[in-house]
Amino acid sequence: MNQKDQKQMAEQQRLEVCTVGDIELDDIFEVTHDGQVIAVYRTEDDEYFATDGLCTHENVSLADGLLQGFEIECPRHNGVFDIRTGAAKRAPACINLNTYRVEVQAGKVFVVFTDGGEGR
Ligand code: FES
Repeated sequence: MNQKDQKQMAEQQRLEVCTVGDIELDDIFEVTHDGQVIAVYRTEDDEYFATDGLCTHENVSLADGLLQGFEIECPRHNGVFDIRTGAAKRAPACINLNTYRVEVQAGKVFVVFTDGGEGR
């Protein structure tokens, strides 16, 4: 496979999820792709991160949770995850979230999927 083909494959795995204007600073945008819920975070310092969108404890939407710095607090039982690594930081959440790379280009926000879905 040449470089052009590799680039095209990479582009096929990049999903445009929203525009920059759709996510305020310190907020979360939820998107569903192929039945998979993804949470896209924009921090107060204007950095973007993405993780699985459902809490690993009881599948609650993290987009309804509280984003503080690099941590998302689940709205149901207050479990906490690090949005940079997906690491579960506070019980009852104890299983890590998958994380995905986020790219911002020309005011559009993309989530990058590799190896069939996970963006680690
Ligand atoms: S559902 Fe998220 S901590 Fe329980």
